[in-house]
Amino acid sequence: MSAIMPTYFSQVPIAFSKGAGSWLWDEAGNAYLDGLTGIAVCGLGHCPPAITEVICAQASTLIHTSNTYWVTHQQRLAQKLCAVAGMDQVYFGNSGAEANEAALKLTRSYARKKGIASPLILSMEGSFHGRSMGTLSISGTPRIREGFEPYGDNARYVPINDLHALQQAVLTDQARLVAIIIEPVQGDGGIMIASHAYLQAIRALCDKYDLLMIVDEIQSGIGRTGRWFAHQWAGIQPDIMTLAKALANGLPIGACLSHGKANDLFKPGKHGCTFGGGPLVSAVALAVIETMERDNLVNRAEALGVYLLEHLQVRLSAILGVQAIRAKGLMIGIVLDRNAFAIMPIALKHKVLFNIVANTVVRLLPALTMSYADADELVERVANCIEEFYRLTAEF
Ligand SMILES: Cc1ncc(COP(=O)(O)O)c(C=O)c1O
Repeated sequence: MSAIMPTYFSQVPIAFSKGAGSWLWDEAGNAYLDGLTGIAVCGLGHCPPAITEVICAQASTLIHTSNTYWVTHQQRLAQKLCAVAGMDQVYFGNSGAEANEAALKLTRSYARKKGIASPLILSMEGSFHGRSMGTLSISGTPRIREGFEPYGDNARYVPINDLHALQQAVLTDQARLVAIIIEPVQGDGGIMIASHAYLQAIRALCDKYDLLMIVDEIQSGIGRTGRWFAHQWAGIQPDIMTLAKALANGLPIGACLSHGKANDLFKPGKHGCTFGGGPLVSAVALAVIETMERDNLVNRAEALGVYLLEHLQVRLSAILGVQAIRAKGLMIGIVLDRNAFAIMPIALKHKVLFNIVANTVVRLLPALTMSYADADELVERVANCIEEFYRLTAEF
């Protein structure tokens, strides 16, 4: 019996001991090309020197004091994040689930303000907002919800990009609805991209019916799609935005940002956590944002995303089972015509890292800093894996 609870059923039997840029080395010294970045976390690649320097300097100065006291780095990070995002206030936690929990509590405070006793949130089918009880209760993926019921009557779901269903749902539950939550690009849902028109329609409905528009940018944010935040492609302003993953390039952090009518909904004592926004992680997140600005990485992500998409389209065009490639910047999903989990051992053999989402989609989330030579290599290795996968599954 393993001493680790068996929550990760598809854990790949390999352990890495070193990383640099877009490469990881296993304990036997084999090099792997990383097309996944710890699931959209190491956006600047592994151990970027500028970030490692800040980690070491801050770790040898001050790591933790608690939120009982002012944390200067946290305040600086909040100001910087708000400036980059066009938001007003931030709450810091330690993970995506915590960021979304904060957003959920903000919706409850908003409901109280509006006199709604039994509030509802509208969410998307196929959405993934976390594994805590609250975030499961608004996640539109039955697979992760099953077995932990009951959730209470606090959410409704609509298919993404279906404007008619969205309008109908808002009209039907007008009296109880307080918020609409959406990932501008669903990551775990299979790289499902919300259209600009759809995001704009959500914004318009939230204005019309006085609802909070929440964008979950935990996977799509921090430059990954070629904009600082994916919703910015649609030219809209959310009331609440949640972040985590890439914000500190691998140190645990979560952030819930508010704007306009979502500001000042938390009163003192109504929310908090021990570790959130500590000196170490805040200094590192600040360095991540500054590095991205200095190296123009958001524009780089857009250009690299276009390059990868074009090269994948050419290289994969002759493989019959490839049904589509969905991409927004460096969130890339190669849609296969069958369950694709059997490709994972093949990927290990070809020494390339990616994963499978929504059963049939090969997901790539490479670093914003990946070199063009490594991008070429990624296309080649991924294509070789898919070709081998189809050779092996041809008889089925
Ligand atoms: C869009 C989105 N929201 C929320 C989460 C949950 O984040 P965490 O695993 O840090 O709790 C994830 C994690 O994959 C995510 O992709």
